[in-house]
Amino acid sequence: MVNLDKYSSIFIANWKLNGNYSFLKDYYQKLNVNSDNCTIICSPSIYLKSLKGNNENLFCGAQDVSSYKEGAYTGELSASMLRDNNIDFCLVGHSERRQYFAETNNYVNIKSLNLIEENIIPVICIGETLQQKEKKRTEEILSTQIKESIPNLANHQNALIAYEPVWAIGTGLTPTLDEINQVHELIKNFDTKFRNFKVLYGGSVKSSNSKEINDLNHVDGCLIGGASLNVDEFNIIIS
Ligand code: PGA
Repeated sequence: MVNLDKYSSIFIANWKLNGNYSFLKDYYQKLNVNSDNCTIICSPSIYLKSLKGNNENLFCGAQDVSSYKEGAYTGELSASMLRDNNIDFCLVGHSERRQYFAETNNYVNIKSLNLIEENIIPVICIGETLQQKEKKRTEEILSTQIKESIPNLANHQNALIAYEPVWAIGTGLTPTLDEINQVHELIKNFDTKFRNFKVLYGGSVKSSNSKEINDLNHVDGCLIGGASLNVDEFNIIIS
């Protein structure tokens, strides 16, 4: 398993359903990885091992994994298959999976457990919708997501948490810096076991706001969607 303690920050590029071979070739040629940071590229699974090279601080992450271990489940990829391909990280419970693919906290928990058992670090995504935020339910929603999606076996060395307010994803909107820091502190204080977890922020991170967000004392890195598709922009974020 990757030693997370070795890195000062963790940056994850979530390409979602984007990319092709020529995009990958250009991207990896220009990508400038900084050895203080752990950089993870979550490309679509079919491209995961392509052209990445051997940089020891650059890792591949899947965007999803099956909750099943093997069997008659057409179209699925298991945690052991990811391990077989030397994949070290996997997003789980991204809000788009929760919204469009009916992924529940229970599935997120099972997937995370399967990944941990294969020495793959799950990046467990949680976050409230705008409506929940407006009704001041953020704490309650996050608390339920944490209790139900994070397996008991998870700890600060084998799992990551990503706080991604649903209303900030792909919208250009972000919480204030104070709000981000407070929510991250809240997550780390839900239970003593979360105190040392690394908690990443995601939602409209770009080169113009990544430094101030990542510098917050309870933020341990960022999960970047749209802005990670532009390698020049991503290079600034991870620099
Ligand atoms: P965004 O996406 O950076 O485009 O807001 C973040 C994410 O979906 O992880």
